Amino acid sequence: MILIDGKKAAAELRQELKEEVSELKKKYNQVPGLTVILIGDLTPSQIYVRNKEKSAIEVGLKSDVIRYPDSVEEKTVLGKIEELNKDNSVSGILVQLPLPKHIDKQKVIEAIDPAKDVDGFHPMNVGNLSSGYESSIPCTPLGCYLLIKKIEPNLNGKKAVVVGRSNLNGKPMTQLLLKENCTVTITHSKTKDLKAECLEGDIIVAAVGIPELVKGDWVKKDAIVIDVGINKTEKGIVGDVAFDEVSKVAKALTPVPGGVGPMTIACLLKNTIDCFKRSQKN
Ligand code: GUN
Repeated sequence: MILIDGKKAAAELRQELKEEVSELKKKYNQVPGLTVILIGDLTPSQIYVRNKEKSAIEVGLKSDVIRYPDSVEEKTVLGKIEELNKDNSVSGILVQLPLPKHIDKQKVIEAIDPAKDVDGFHPMNVGNLSSGYESSIPCTPLGCYLLIKKIEPNLNGKKAVVVGRSNLNGKPMTQLLLKENCTVTITHSKTKDLKAECLEGDIIVAAVGIPELVKGDWVKKDAIVIDVGINKTEKGIVGDVAFDEVSKVAKALTPVPGGVGPMTIACLLKNTIDCFKRSQKN
């Protein structure tokens, strides 16, 4: 079984990006810039944002974090986004989720210039991805996709089963696999026989947020299994895949932690650089 080392893959990607940033700096006398807006003091969000900032600086990006208290008014945030949209030194804007209840998430997402939407959450990017046009691609599914392609560069005609249909993971993951000519089944909490569906998959991507849902006897021999789950349980953090059982049948499997997670942040940096490159072209 191949244990997919997301930490190593992310370090390799960051190294490539670092070289690319250095080339871009020579060519344009400017480096891509990522600005993160962080509202409130939720600990997981603070940790994510700190990691994002650290990684951005490591690859040579300009990195800014704008912090607001929980009580910030929606119009203040929208005003700041408008300012960042116009700022040529800002290539990518990310508003860390979740947001306080009094702020309309969709309004915030739609306020970001689609050309600077490094999360790929803006309806324009969602639409472009599903139409097969160039777009920002949500970081976690992009990371999963790159890991799958490392194991199996040719996905033509493979059967892929995506467990979970969120806008963040399941839906964009489906689009990426379709683009690679997979036959994709999207499953979710109302799917009748999830085990039978999973057993069809040459590739399984589990992104439902249910601890160790995908069991060993749900997985076809030699399938590639990608575990997006991060679930806090009594025995610590576990994924959506029963790791020990599935590792006995799968060809390749991502661990949790150390699988998809590190790739997500590396892909955010990649998206920032890609936004910068597109802005230079236009
Ligand atoms: N919070 C947790 N994951 C994410 C993400 O991918 N993007 C944003 N903006 N917020 C998040």
